[in-house]
Amino acid sequence: MKTAYLDPKLPRNLPGNPMHWAKAWFDAASDKRVQKNPNAMTLATVGDGGAPTARVVLCKAFEADPGYLVFFTNYESRKSEQLFTNPEVCVVFHWDSIGRQIRIEGLAARSPAEESDRYFSSRDAGSRLGAWGSDQSKPLESRQHLIEQMQRRASELGIELDENGKPAANAEIPRPPHWGGIRIWARRVELWIDGEDRIHDRACWTRELEPTGDGTFSTGDWSGTRLQP
Ligand SMILES: Cc1cc2nc3c(=O)[nH]c(=O)nc-3n(C[C@H](O)[C@H](O)[C@H](O)COP(=O)(O)O)c2cc1C
Repeated sequence: MKTAYLDPKLPRNLPGNPMHWAKAWFDAASDKRVQKNPNAMTLATVGDGGAPTARVVLCKAFEADPGYLVFFTNYESRKSEQLFTNPEVCVVFHWDSIGRQIRIEGLAARSPAEESDRYFSSRDAGSRLGAWGSDQSKPLESRQHLIEQMQRRASELGIELDENGKPAANAEIPRPPHWGGIRIWARRVELWIDGEDRIHDRACWTRELEPTGDGTFSTGDWSGTRLQP
């Protein structure tokens, strides 16, 4: 029997592993191109003194088993400084046109270098150079300073730019050490389906995460419960 991932309600018996459902929704939103960036998710991190901050990033991998998401960023940005200090994070996806929201709370950890290398090498040359050119989240005097900084760094890397300031498509641009992936290991997942008269369908699942010492986690069994809307 086909699993009813996209039925208008969650099944009476809640699924054992919510990440398969979450991934099916993520894939459906991506396949249907419900918006320009269906993989956009709001990422909340915890700053000094416990204050939350949030911003949008793109989910580039959704691994239902063992249950983590991946996004890529500058490891010296404000978000990275915060999540390296306090790995407790939360992400939210919302797709209005399919009436679904996913909330995932968990722990952030740096991706293995191979994962970052693989994704970095799939990016176009301009984006690869951009990772060298911008000190994300740091103050900037003017746009012109940024352009000059990018030109200077391209020249230090021996990369020639054309008259539009772009590197050649086949330019060799290595991954900067300060740029790469972050995995978000799910510890609590909430699925939400828009309902008539605001009687939404809602359920959450939790599990234990135990650090294994190499940046990954061993995972306990999921336990789910319905929530009032
Ligand atoms: C649709 C969209 C997608 C974005 N994707 C990313 C991303 O994948 N990685 C990233 O570092 N910033 C991304 N950004 C920029 C972030 O929202 C943010 O401005 C930047 O990462 C700096 O955040 P921070 O100062 O809190 O570290 C994206 C912004 C938007 C609106």
